[in-house]
Amino acid sequence: MSTPFDEAAGIDAMTRLFRAHLELCRVSPGETVAILTEGGQFAARVRAYEAAVRALGAEPRHVDFRPPGGATEPAARLGNVGRSGLGADRGAMATLKASDLVIDMMLLLFSQEQLEIQQAGARIVLVVEPFETLARLFPTEDLRRRVEAAERRLARAGTLRFTNAAGTDVTYDIADQPILTEYGYADQPGRWDHWPGGFLATTARPRGVNGRVVLAAGDLLYPLMRVVGEPIGITIRDGMIVDIAGGAEAGALREYIERYDDPRAYAISHIGWGLNERCEWDATLPGIGMDGRAYYGNVLFSTGPDTELGGTNDTACHLDIPMRNCTLTLDGEPIVAAGRVMPADMRAFGR
Ligand code: FE2
Repeated sequence: MSTPFDEAAGIDAMTRLFRAHLELCRVSPGETVAILTEGGQFAARVRAYEAAVRALGAEPRHVDFRPPGGATEPAARLGNVGRSGLGADRGAMATLKASDLVIDMMLLLFSQEQLEIQQAGARIVLVVEPFETLARLFPTEDLRRRVEAAERRLARAGTLRFTNAAGTDVTYDIADQPILTEYGYADQPGRWDHWPGGFLATTARPRGVNGRVVLAAGDLLYPLMRVVGEPIGITIRDGMIVDIAGGAEAGALREYIERYDDPRAYAISHIGWGLNERCEWDATLPGIGMDGRAYYGNVLFSTGPDTELGGTNDTACHLDIPMRNCTLTLDGEPIVAAGRVMPADMRAFGR
């Protein structure tokens, strides 16, 4: 692996990239951009963002949240989503809600605070990946176009089914359910996105997932940052995991979920597929694993909370499980066939 990017020495390079990203977010003169950090983390990025925001004639506002119990790294927060204590800091919340855009470097995913900021009309982009990853997976308007084509197709569908050679066969009743798109930037009031991105997701109606998901060797388990080595069979009834079967790895997964001591941790969460052709299938890459989540032609299966998609389950146990070589259909029409994206309007150039 090459030497990691030196952020303290690379502020000019970061400023250039952040400015290009703020332009995609359509930051305009006179707007305010809040830069949210926790416990003084990402100090060099904050300086770069401040310079990039000013270069566009907008006003930066750094909000550094200091939790009484000490700061959490974004990667650690992914193992315990939605609980930061930020809501108790009224000054910070007021600044964030009054901003036009919030750059979230503390990871408010699945939190009440994030929903409140969105409802106040601010757009939010989560930015916590290593600089190299942000640069390599810099969002494009083409990616947005293809994700939005997928969104239109998903919005029309009533049933999502996916299968794989390992024995998966599971059906989601998705009629009229909310859809979350992630293409890496936010230019509309109240929109949340994540840089880098490149996928979309929906959830099933209550009790609307049934069947069996069999994780195959090579599939990825986030936030555990683990590669599946042997089949793990997950039986789902009425939207809940009722059994996890297999060898030692199935046992480890069972124990991981049990540790949360929360029956809602067994709920099935979002489902969708990846469309970012620049993502790599490599669990050893530094960062929180957006490469796997947005990988072109994956199926992203997940468990736990659904507050990001309008639900009420706010369990802290969230698993994102990118799976390869799956076939996913919407009302019987193949969207992904053995890992290949089928509809022309979702396909990346040359794929
Ligand atoms: Fe997720």
